[in-house]
Amino acid sequence: MNFNDMKTKGLILLAVCCLTGLFFACRTSRQTTTINVNKALAYCDTQVSRTLSELRDSDGMIDYSMMPRNIMDSLDTWHCRKAAADEWCGGFWPGILWYTYEYTQDPSVRVEAERFTDALHFLSSTPAYDHDLGFLVFCSYGNGYRLTRNPEYKQVILDTADTLATLYRPQVGALLSWPRHIEDYGGHNVIMDNMINLEMLFWAAKNGGNPYLADIAVAHADKTMDYHFQPNYMCAHVAVYDTLTGDFIKRVTHQGYSDESMWARGQAWAIYGYTVVYRETKDNKYLDFAQKVTDVYLKDLPRDYVPYWDFQAPFIPNEPRDASAACVVASALLELSTYLPGEKGKGYKKAAIKMIENLSSDEYLSGKSKPSFLLHSTGHWPNGSEIDASIIYADYYYIEALTRLKKLEEGKSLLI
Ligand code: GLY
Repeated sequence: MNFNDMKTKGLILLAVCCLTGLFFACRTSRQTTTINVNKALAYCDTQVSRTLSELRDSDGMIDYSMMPRNIMDSLDTWHCRKAAADEWCGGFWPGILWYTYEYTQDPSVRVEAERFTDALHFLSSTPAYDHDLGFLVFCSYGNGYRLTRNPEYKQVILDTADTLATLYRPQVGALLSWPRHIEDYGGHNVIMDNMINLEMLFWAAKNGGNPYLADIAVAHADKTMDYHFQPNYMCAHVAVYDTLTGDFIKRVTHQGYSDESMWARGQAWAIYGYTVVYRETKDNKYLDFAQKVTDVYLKDLPRDYVPYWDFQAPFIPNEPRDASAACVVASALLELSTYLPGEKGKGYKKAAIKMIENLSSDEYLSGKSKPSFLLHSTGHWPNGSEIDASIIYADYYYIEALTRLKKLEEGKSLLI
């Protein structure tokens, strides 16, 4: 090779530039995540095994109707609650078992997932207590059906979706979230959490249920979009409407700091909810709205991307965090990022990974101290309950986010 030849020199220079570019590109892509997803999922599996051991009595038997709910800061074992229509968290533990089975493919975990899921069967033939039926049945039976295609699971979901639809009030154009609180709030109440339960209605409409179920989900999302948010896209926890005319009456809080503040988990439900509504409708107005409600949440996060329980809580930084909100948002943003090619999507994915990385640090992992996955969630601050605790729904959305991240890393759809 003649190194004095200008063409050869040019080619060498080009090759050096390409290799240098490749080196930095590889470094950058490695740097997008420092989290070892398989290690984090293996940790979840260890904690699930610990929990299952803990749930066995001295004869090795498990009461499958008792669902882990929380571990308070000073304690190290799960407080369980009986599966019931008024216990909104009953579906999360079966859902965690299904995600653990998805990762491990361990048949013994599948058996436990099936048994705990079966404990919620009664919900498909019980009149609606409130809107939480999606949390209860889609996290449990929904994941079970996704992974097993068991036709009995499908029927339970379809029946429960019909039950949830009984809460729809055409004169309001929305589901009634809490029938028991109509008088307390002075009307038809809708809570932001209700957005999560729309996913089961969309699913049922596409899988043999009445197509009307999707229509009411869309109507609910529209009504919520129109009235539940302040002009800056911060949501209230509760919106109240006239039961007869459907006219908007007021926005108030239930679990937030004030009627005007941004309760972290409420905003998280909004981010997740409108991401799902966009997925199911492909109507760009929801994609646009999902970004608006996300951006107001992201802009005031603390450095570690795990919010204080309410963004306007008066004693920040001396306020409890809500890791559960971070888990919900991380999972939602991984999905939302896939609908947004370009910088916006990349930014959301980066933010989600940052949340997952920080949640997976010693600061937030329960580790050996408790059998939960995570510490530092806040359930109901105004009530003084579940403050700075391990809470089952934080763990559910954490393992969901990890599972989604793993699928993205493997180039798979995160919804399979
Ligand atoms: N769905 C009630 C809560 O988020 O605490």
